[in-house]
Amino acid sequence: MIAAGILGTGAALPEKVITNQDLEKIVDTSDEWITSRTGIKARRQAGPDQTTSSLSVEAASKALEMAGLTPSDLDLIICSTISPDMPLPSTAAYIQSKLGARDCCAFDLAAACSGFLFGMTVAEQFIKTRKARHVLVIGAEILSRYVDYKDRATCVIFGDGVAAGVLGPVEAPSGMLAAEMHTNGGFADHLYIPAGGVLKPASCETVRAGEHYIKMNGNELFKVAVRSMEDVSRRVLEQAGVSVRAIDLFIPHQANQRITDAVRERLGVCPEKVYANISRLGNTSSASIPICLDECVRSGRIQKGNLVLMAAFGAGVTWGAVLMRW
Ligand code: UT7
Repeated sequence: MIAAGILGTGAALPEKVITNQDLEKIVDTSDEWITSRTGIKARRQAGPDQTTSSLSVEAASKALEMAGLTPSDLDLIICSTISPDMPLPSTAAYIQSKLGARDCCAFDLAAACSGFLFGMTVAEQFIKTRKARHVLVIGAEILSRYVDYKDRATCVIFGDGVAAGVLGPVEAPSGMLAAEMHTNGGFADHLYIPAGGVLKPASCETVRAGEHYIKMNGNELFKVAVRSMEDVSRRVLEQAGVSVRAIDLFIPHQANQRITDAVRERLGVCPEKVYANISRLGNTSSASIPICLDECVRSGRIQKGNLVLMAAFGAGVTWGAVLMRW
């Protein structure tokens, strides 16, 4: 049985940095509140010329270069995003065209912050069944275009960023060892954008009411996030027969440093094994895990043979985990 592994990673971050001090000037908040409640100090914001597809092409090109592949080697492109360039067609179609890839299958995947792990899990099925050899999975978000900069509960949290991974067949014992994905639509209204879809098409009224912006019940999500990330992490470890102590690196979705700390503590992972960049980048939704991965690979924090556990939670609500040996 062949296994699916990550052959290359790449990230693309907008240059513009929005600090907590910048936000203090536009909403009723403070650096002290944001830092102590979330761990965030700064986040990036895309410029007017940057789009989800343009940053994706930059990230994908770096990932392909690391993998020693060209766009024509791709058999499948999956773009996880909740901030697509436009509702129709998929952002993946634009990425394929801008990259110069051949007419392989390309589609978007909407699982919010869990999207990169969902994308990896889908890619794994194609690789293991030999339907595809090289799969590009991208986590891409420009959430600043959906954030209400008058809503202090959300504007301090989210940031922009994109990262990609090229997945392909690898030799045992490397590769994905276990993966799980879950959705519970019962919590859908805790994190959503009310208007702009079929239910409530965009109109002057919806725009006036700010219904094209992200609405979040953070308090309720916090509890579900901690429980579900702990649970799914334990399940993939159990499936693979791996103990918590054996993990070399734990990369949780960067939603809130307090969520990361609570999940880490409940799982019993020691602090040195947990990666976090939320202080610099905020919550970049589906880009958060692949950005962390790329930083770890490029800095040498991930070495061949390392056991890496990733866990995510997001709107839907969705949650999932992937355990892999690098
Ligand atoms: O990405 C995956 C999906 N998202 C999540 O998983 C998000 C999970 N939730 C969270 O990270 C946290 O719930 C938040 C960071 C969003 C909020 O932190 P919290 O500790 O749950 O705060 P809270 O919502 O309970 O609000 C506490 C107080 C409230 O004031 P009162 O009612 O106690 O007077 C808020 O109005 O803090 C106030 N508040 C703020 N104050 C200053 C809320 N946002 C801010 C702010 N600055 N930015």
